[in-house]
Formats: sequence, C-alpha cells, structure tokens
Amino acid sequence: MDSTASPDAPIRIESFLGEGKGRSLAEDVREGLTRSFKELPPKHFYDTRGAELFERICELPEYYPTRAERAILDEFAGELVAITGAEEVVELGAGAATKTRVLLDALHATGVPARYVPMDVTESMVRELATELTETYPGMQVHGVIGDFERHLEYLPPSEGKRLVVFLGGTIGNFAPAPRREFLGKIAGLLQSGDHLLMGVDLVKDPEVLRAAYDDAQGVTAEFNRNLLHVLNRELDADFDPSDFDHVAVFDAEQEWIEMRLRSRRAHTVTVGALGMGVHFGAGEEMRTEISAKFTQARVTADLAASGLDLVRWLTDPEDRFALTLSRRSDA
Ligand code: SAH
Ligand code: TRP
Repeated sequence: MDSTASPDAPIRIESFLGEGKGRSLAEDVREGLTRSFKELPPKHFYDTRGAELFERICELPEYYPTRAERAILDEFAGELVAITGAEEVVELGAGAATKTRVLLDALHATGVPARYVPMDVTESMVRELATELTETYPGMQVHGVIGDFERHLEYLPPSEGKRLVVFLGGTIGNFAPAPRREFLGKIAGLLQSGDHLLMGVDLVKDPEVLRAAYDDAQGVTAEFNRNLLHVLNRELDADFDPSDFDHVAVFDAEQEWIEMRLRSRRAHTVTVGALGMGVHFGAGEEMRTEISAKFTQARVTADLAASGLDLVRWLTDPEDRFALTLSRRSDA
C-alpha cells in the first residue's frame, strides 16, 4: 500500500492498484482477446485522457443521464441527508464527483463533521478531488482510495459513523446481470444497521434516445471508446491503429442494454508486445468494450433483493429518464 497522510491533515490518500487478487489489464487482455467473441472490461477506459473524455461525454446534448441524475439530486439531496443521517459518504467510481457535490453541499449544511471517501481507478481524479473538496468544505475529512472496486472493496477504511455508500452515473449497468448481483452483495457487506446505499440507474426508454446517448454527433463517445486502444498501446506495448476501428453502439432490445463495440475496418493482426501475442481481427469483426444495462423499478428491486438489500426510496427526474435508489440491508 502507498499512503500519504499526516495525523491531523484533512486529506489521506491510499493506493491499492498494485495489490490484491483479481485480474490486471494484462490478464484481461490475454483472456478477452483470445475468445471467439472478443471482449475487454470497461474499467480500462479510464486513464487520465479517458477520464477527461468521459467528463466531455457528460456535457453532450445526447448524454442525458448526467443531467437527469443531477436534477434528482438537486431536488432530493436535503431529504436524502435527513433520511440517512449520513456522517460519511463512500463513493464508488467517483470520477470528478460533480453531482456528488450537490449531496456534499447538503451534508455540509447540516454542520455534521463528515468524512468523504471517494474510490476510483483513476489516480489523477482521486488526487484532484481530495484537494478540491477539502478546500470547498472546511472541516470535511477526505480519504481518497485509488483502487479497483471489483478487487479492492475490502481495503476501504472501516466506517467512522453512519455510512452512505454512493454509486452514481448508472455505472452498476456496466456489470452483466450475475456479476451485478454479486457486486451488490459485496456493497451490502460495506453496510451496517442504519447505513444506506444510494445508487443511480438509467431507465429503459426509446431505443433511439438510448443509442444516441452512446453515439453522439460530435464523436466524443467514439473517441472515448477508441481510447481503450491507446491504453493497450501504452500499457502493453501493443500496436493498435485506432483509426482501423469504428465505434459501434447498439441497443439489445431483449437484454435491454446498450452494447459498445469496436469494429475492425479490415482484416489485420495486432501485436501485443508485452504479452508476446498476436491478435487477429477479421474485416468487420467486433470486440465488445462495454454494456450499459437499462433498468425498470422491478428489475432494480429484484437485483437489490437478491443481494440482501431492500429498496427504501425510488426517486426519478421529472421526465422519468433516470432513477436514484436508496436501499439498506434487509437484515438490518
Ligand atoms: N460517478 C461519476 C463517474 C461515472 S463514470 C458520474 O456519475 O459521473 C465511471 C467511473 O467509475 C469513472 O470515474 C471510472 O474511473 C470509475 N471506474 C470504472 N471502473 C472502475 C473500477 N473497477 N474500480 C474503480 N473505479 C472504476
Ligand atoms: N457508466 C456510463 C454509462 O454506462 C459510462 C459511459 C457513458 C460509457 N458513455 C460511455 C462507457 C461510452 C463506454 C462508452 O452510461
């Protein structure tokens, strides 16, 4: 573990990226690119450039989830703070935590000496966030955790008060159904009696609205998707030419999820130097880079229940595009 802290400083940062069980980028690539249907997990999008591109996605006219989720927080943040009595906010995949600030504003306004624990794989985001938030909220402790929420949840610091775990942006939709329930079960394990989970989910809607949110006219999402190839080139000495791949976003109406893919424009073989591996792509062959599942209230309630969580509140934006769910342990 890398740790930077001084006893009374409001900021503490820990990094666990090199630690623990579970798969690294190299293992994900070795496994995912030797399958007959190639696939890579989405967490590798988010290097510093990927995180910047994602921030641009959030501002796009087509990408409504960020605005819809912020609208819900604008309306209900005060109530959420009151219902939960939160003394600490643990955020998974915090990113720039732009919307979380609405919640932290409400928490800060109560005068409770709170702690904020953002976890993200992107080191630069966690560090910048910690500096900014301790300036914005005097008296608030920020304990940043640089880590993979699929591998390092157990390294989160022990709770120091009534806990609110926050998981925004519809990121839960990036899990396939079975791993989603498994992950929610692990989140339940972070909660004690009196603690809550606040989770954002994108809702099923007109497929064309959904597809456009993942294939914007300016091509920012396409650039974000192809950024994965830049990450592989840099981290694993691969020789992808990103311009050999087209961005594809399709709505799978049966599964009710968006699939992001990269489609090879021509038949060619890419070398992944660090793995001593050649990867052949056929002309038109697609590699899946992300799913983004869309929800109904029934689906979320069932997923939560299967993971030991009870839905307490279901909050939506005025246009019913997105929902925030508040839940707590069924046995608490
Ligand atoms: N919560 C923000 C960002 C959502 S984008 C919002 O709602 O706008 C998803 C975020 O999760 C990114 O910041 C990304 O770096 C982070 N992330 C993705 N996979 C992760 C993982 N396995 N572990 C930790 N963080 C992850
Ligand atoms: N969690 C976000 C979502 O599913 C991430 C995201 C938005 C994303 N646009 C993307 C991921 C495009 C990959 C490609 O909505």
